[in-house]
Parts: sequence; C-alpha cells; structure tokens
Amino acid sequence: MEELKKNILKEFVATATREELLWISGYVQSALDRLGNNTIASEIKPSVNKITVLYGTETGNSKKVSTDLAALAKKKGIQVKLQGLEQYRLSDINREEYLFVVMSTQGEGEPPEAGKKFYDYLHTDGLNFPNIKYSVLALGDTSYPLYCKAGEDVDIQLEKAGAKRIAPLQKTDVDYDIPANEWIENVLTVLSKPNGVPTAEKPAVPVVAAKTKEKIIYKGTLLSKVNLHAKGSGRTTWHIELLSDDVAYEAGDTIGIVPPNNKEEVAKIIAIAGVKGSDIIAIKNDEDTIEEWLNKKLCINYLHETVVKKYAAIIGQEIPAVKIDLLDLLKVYPVADKNQFEEVLKILNKQTPRLYNIASTLTTQSGEVHITVARDEYAVNGVTKAGICSAYVDTLQENDTVEFFVQKNKRFRLPAGDKDIVMVGPGTGIAPFRSFLYERDATGAAGKNWLFFGEEHFTTDFLYQTEIQGWYNTGVLNKINVAFSKDHHVVYNVHHKMKEQAIELYNWLNNGAYFYLCGEKAPMGVEVEKTLIEIIAEQGKTDKEEALKVFNKWKEEGRYIKDVY
Ligand SMILES: Cc1cc2nc3c(=O)[nH]c(=O)nc-3n(C[C@H](O)[C@H](O)[C@H](O)COP(=O)(O)OP(=O)(O)OC[C@H]3O[C@@H](n4cnc5c(N)ncnc54)[C@H](O)[C@@H]3O)c2cc1C
Ligand SMILES: Cc1cc2nc3c(=O)[nH]c(=O)nc-3n(C[C@H](O)[C@H](O)[C@H](O)COP(=O)(O)O)c2cc1C
Repeated sequence: MEELKKNILKEFVATATREELLWISGYVQSALDRLGNNTIASEIKPSVNKITVLYGTETGNSKKVSTDLAALAKKKGIQVKLQGLEQYRLSDINREEYLFVVMSTQGEGEPPEAGKKFYDYLHTDGLNFPNIKYSVLALGDTSYPLYCKAGEDVDIQLEKAGAKRIAPLQKTDVDYDIPANEWIENVLTVLSKPNGVPTAEKPAVPVVAAKTKEKIIYKGTLLSKVNLHAKGSGRTTWHIELLSDDVAYEAGDTIGIVPPNNKEEVAKIIAIAGVKGSDIIAIKNDEDTIEEWLNKKLCINYLHETVVKKYAAIIGQEIPAVKIDLLDLLKVYPVADKNQFEEVLKILNKQTPRLYNIASTLTTQSGEVHITVARDEYAVNGVTKAGICSAYVDTLQENDTVEFFVQKNKRFRLPAGDKDIVMVGPGTGIAPFRSFLYERDATGAAGKNWLFFGEEHFTTDFLYQTEIQGWYNTGVLNKINVAFSKDHHVVYNVHHKMKEQAIELYNWLNNGAYFYLCGEKAPMGVEVEKTLIEIIAEQGKTDKEEALKVFNKWKEEGRYIKDVY
C-alpha cells in the first residue's frame, strides 16, 4: 500500500470513535463483496511452486488419486514430482518441502508391497524433517479391523519426525472418490494460501473421517455345493451357488463373507475363562452376549501381534509377540477374573470378511451368486487345521442361509464387446473368468477370448472342465492353454505355457487385447508378470527397460488388470 494511503488510514483509525470504526469495517466489507471472490483469488498466486506426490498402491486406486492431485496442481502452475513409492529414492526426502502421500492398507494393516521400503524407513529412529510440510490420504476398507492403518502410521511417523501437517489425514473407505476429492481440494486450498500453510494459529486437525456407506448384507440360500476336484485328488474346491433375489453386482465383483467361529472352540474359551456365555457385555456401541460376540463378531484365531501385546498389558505379564489363537493364549496366560476377560474381549479385532471372486453373471444366472472356494489348510505342530471360512463352508448344506455383501471391483471389468481378452486364472483364479465367459457368451460379444488355466493334475483338478470345453466347442473361447504342474517331470505352470505361446500372445496384446490375471499373489502372480515383461522384450526385440515401459503403458491404459490374493 502506498505510504500516503497508509498515513491517511492510520490518522483516521487513531481519531475515529468505535461507531465510526464499525461503520468503516462494514463499508470495506461491502466493497470487497462487490469485487467478488474470483478477483481476489486470481490475485493470490500459489506461493508454492513445487510439490512431491507419492503413492503406495497394490491395485492402482492410490495411483489414480495421486495422478488427479498432480494434474490439478499442475493446472495451478505448480511443478509436480509424481512417483510410486517403490521408485522413490529415500535419500531425497530431506530435500522435500511439500510432500503428499497417498497410501492404501493391505494384508492385516500393512502397507502395500510397493510402499514397504518407505514405510519401514519412516519407522527408523532419529529421523528429522523440520522443513517438510505434508498431508496423507489413507485408502482402506472399513470391513478390515485395522482400517487405513498404513496411511495412518505414515501420517504419525512424519509428524514424529518434525514434519508439519498442513492438511488433515483423510481416511477413505472402498468408495474413495468423494473423500479423496475432498482431500485434494483441501490440499489445493492450502497450497493457494500465501505461504502454503493453513493460518499459523490454527494447525490442521489430525484426522478427517470420511462418511462411510453401510454395506448391504444379502441373505443367500444355498442352492448347491459341489467339489470341483475328482475323486482321488484329496483336495477340495467348492463351487457354491447362492440364491438371493435382490442381489446386485457386475462381472468382476467379489463378495465378502464374515465367517462364524468354531462353536466348540468358543465353548472352550467360555469355560476356561470361567464366564457365563449368556452374560451381556457392551463393546463400542453394541451390546450382545459373550457367546454371540465370540461366535460371530470377534476374531479369536491367529490374533494379531498388537492384540497379543494389549492382552499382555491387561493381565500384567510378558508375552512374546507372536500370532496365537485366543484359546491357546488363555491356556498359557490365564485371565484373573471375569472383568479381565471382558477387557480382553474389548481389545479383540472384528472378524475380517473373507473375499471371493464372483463366478457367475446376473445376465445368465439372474438372482444368483456363484463362488469358487478352495479349502485352505495349514499345519500347526503337525496337526492339520482348516481356515475359519473354509471350515464354515465345509459345514454348509442345501437351503442354509449365507450372509454376504458385494465388494465392487471397478478396475476388474470386461472391456467393450469388440475387444479381445486374455485371461490367466489358475486354481480359484478361474472364478471371475467363468463370470466373464458367461457374460461374453450371453451378450454375443465379438471380441476374442483366450484362457490360460493351471492346476496340479489334469484328471482330478481341471476345475469347471465341462463348461470350459463347452465354451471352446461353441467358439466362445477362441484359445485355451492349460498347465498341469504335477503331470510333468518338472514343475510346469501357466507362465511356462505363456512362454510357449509368446509370439501369439504378444500379437494379441500388441493389437490391443486386454490381459487379466487372477489367483495366487505369489509365486504365481509374480511369475506371470515377470514372464509377460520377458515376452514383450523378446518379441518386441527390445531391452528390459523398454519392455517395462510398454508394460506400464498397457497398465495405464487399463489393459493389464490383476486381482491377486
Ligand atoms: C480380492 C480377493 C479375492 C479372493 N478370491 C478368492 C476366491 O475366489 N476363492 C478362494 O478360495 N479364495 C479367495 N480369496 C481368499 C479368501 O478370501 C480367504 O483368504 C481364503 O479362503 C482363506 O480364508 P480362511 O478363513 O479359510 O482361512 P484363514 O483362517 O483366514 O487362514 C488363512 C491362512 O492364515 C494362516 N493361519 C490362520 N490361522 C493360523 C494359525 N492358528 N496358525 C498358523 N497359521 C494360521 C494359514 O496360513 C492359513 O492358510 C480371495 C482373497 C481376496 C483378497
Ligand atoms: C487382501 C486385502 C487386504 C486388505 N487389508 C486392509 C486392511 O487391513 N485395512 C484397510 O483399511 N483396508 C484393507 N484393504 C482394502 C484396500 O486398502 C482398499 O481396497 C484400497 O482401496 C486399495 O487401494 P490400492 O489400489 O491403492 O492398493 C485390503 C484389501 C485387500 C484386497
């Protein structure tokens, strides 16, 4: 402001009465209103000229949000470094000034594989980032007990290292679009403040809780349950058909089932704790009998290390940080009384839903949901046990009711009918492709379909063999390649089969086909991805670096889509 104007203002303020000051403040405000907000906003140029946006993703959601933030910031004239955490040089962090991290949570409250190095680094001692101004967007799913844990940890660790949070941590549920956009808006608003910080006297509140949609719980009547392995296999993979008239889903979606716990185990827990199963206790905002909490709502098996730590604090004893079942914990480290047991119930996590890819399509199987469930077995001290949901599925009989919810899987969708698709789905990975093939058959899609399937033995483990051969005979499936790993002298898997088909596979993909992968995350998923990049290099006559670029381009175009677990 010019000196002359300043002096006039000072003189006026010094001699004005209170009423005159009030009148002038109203006068100034209306003059500002007449100028309008846009004029003012356009005069404030973002004083921040460079930001870094990092993402840690497993299935691409965090990358999508980060890319949106980067694009909008660039539009405002801000330079943006956008990078996946797997590529980020940790030594660069000390040079960052404005850092935005978008991170999903995977496994049991863990960071995605791509973000692990960064996450672990943030948990090392002695970090000091006083110059960093930051904000974190945490992607997650409220069905999981450790909701948005990885993003939350990143936020906490950055704060601990002295970085300044300039926009609140935002947690988002499966429908992340709206809260993610709110976070982006928050960040951009802060970046357009004169110093790229919120008002000095008002630090950013730590967490913004996104509104979460209640999941619709459907009741499905079990129509049929068939073991897809032939006699002599010794293995069980159930094909399950549920009838649920009002169910809504699309090919590519999954369902979630919250399995009940083993009743005998619950009875033993109640007995050993010396409590009455019918006693009612309140946990959070819910009341139920001890028996019901243990039967249906809480996780009592393979307790997370953090839960074991809290248990140790309740009973006042040292317990090694290992995963253990509640019953075993109670046997070795008993609770003193009913009160202590109730405290223990309050620290247990909610039972986690188990997800299953839908193997049907409403176009053909109206009002039905089909899933493919492999019996998950593991051994503890030489004793073979079944997983919680596996054991529950074993008990199911015709006409039983199964409660489930539909988990949308927006990335995993069929392309337009005229596009070609390649599907790699060994084992239970076949499930969504059964849905895709029914859908393409019913809609008369003109695009070509190619399936790679793998299992152990041809004679006993060819899941959905009759249907697959039917689709091949009727021309719905244009190509099928199978790999039965234990029918050969050497192990032989789907990625070996892909290698044999390298020329044609490369041609399909180079001509615009979509590549889908479903099933076991490792080693299968890893090998398939590695093999595909090798095929691109060999057939495209290029080096690995260029092949990786092509692969990433296909990924960006949504032509390489995976759902592995
Ligand atoms: C997106 C997605 C899609 C999926 N689609 C399918 C599908 O179509 N078909 C399918 O069959 N599965 C699918 N799964 C896997 C499925 O959700 C379950 O994880 C699987 O069925 C195992 O669940 P469970 O309750 O039987 O085993 P859990 O009880 O969860 O046990 C799982 C594993 O944990 C370990 N474990 C558990 N308790 C102990 C213990 N006390 N001591 C030592 N180790 C222990 C064992 O290694 C065991 O194998 C999918 C998963 C995801 C994330
Ligand atoms: C196997 C699996 C485990 C998951 N574990 C958690 C979890 O512990 N906590 C959570 O909040 N979300 C969890 N999620 C949900 C993901 O964080 C959510 O789907 C997110 O949108 C994925 O984002 P991304 O594509 O960037 O990885 C899990 C998802 C899967 C498939």
